Amino acid sequence: KIEYSLRPQTLDEYIGQEKAKKNLKVFIQAAKQRGEALDHVLFYGPPGLGKTTLAGIIAHEMEVNIKVTSGPAIEKPGEMAAILNNLQEGDLLFVDEIHRLNRQVEEVLYPAMEDYAIDILIGKGATARSIRLDLPKFTLVGATTRAGLLTAPLRDRFGVVHHLEFYTVEELQTIVIRSAKVLKVRIDAKGAEEIARRSRGTPRLANRLLKRTRDFAQVKYDGNITEDVARFALDLLDVDRMGLDQIDRTILRTLIEKFSGGPVGLDTLAAAIGEDAGTIEDVYEPYLVQNGFLLRTPRGRMASDLTYSHLGLEHETI
Ligand code: ADE
Repeated sequence: KIEYSLRPQTLDEYIGQEKAKKNLKVFIQAAKQRGEALDHVLFYGPPGLGKTTLAGIIAHEMEVNIKVTSGPAIEKPGEMAAILNNLQEGDLLFVDEIHRLNRQVEEVLYPAMEDYAIDILIGKGATARSIRLDLPKFTLVGATTRAGLLTAPLRDRFGVVHHLEFYTVEELQTIVIRSAKVLKVRIDAKGAEEIARRSRGTPRLANRLLKRTRDFAQVKYDGNITEDVARFALDLLDVDRMGLDQIDRTILRTLIEKFSGGPVGLDTLAAAIGEDAGTIEDVYEPYLVQNGFLLRTPRGRMASDLTYSHLGLEHETI
């Protein structure tokens, strides 16, 4: 079989997220045996871990069409109604950043998800009435960074909910080797491991770093990616040995230098950096917290011993 895309097309090609994969395999097989649409699926977790990829794989495995949209792209209830009405029987609708749907648009989804129907309001005021329009049976796949961002009525209408986890270095190494094959660049195990180690548990980042490393390998070396080539490229890309980038390091350094290592509230920290608090919380923090660079306490964010030693900074002594 020829691999031709960085994004895997089937669950068997997909590396990592073993629990989600194992469960989805069963649900897909069961739905196909019954000749039904798969139940609605919600994926949540930090960006770059494969939510969109998994939606594509589900459509491929179910042998249905996928229509892709996002929360901010749908502004009016009528637009959502039109998208739903234009689906074919069994189709998959992928809504990225589903937490950003506005209230009225979200309300169109309730009867659509529950009863495969939409209620259309006709007329105004006292003479207004609603008629119900049947929809094709479909599968909604929603993606969001945190399940808690969704309203309860929306969250409750998903039959399958999966949290996507950061990938291990080993899994990322396997992904990098697979991607190198697709990109037709030679890489050895150590080179792939070095890229994997610096990809903050995130395949999207691993693939991006692989491409940039390939550029350095091609222009500055003989085209092959070894550990040395990977180190050279990644140092120039400002990705440090633990995979932290400039923004990660700014967050940690600000915490130490402006707030004596904390505790400090997220909003205060965000303002000091000039970043959006939500972005810090959803995009940067999960990896920093999971790896012990940042502590979340009831009184705010705090630096750990690891934060100081990694940045080469000393604890304040009194
Ligand atoms: N490319 C990006 N993510 C992947 C994954 N989880 N498995 C295989 N290839 C990938």
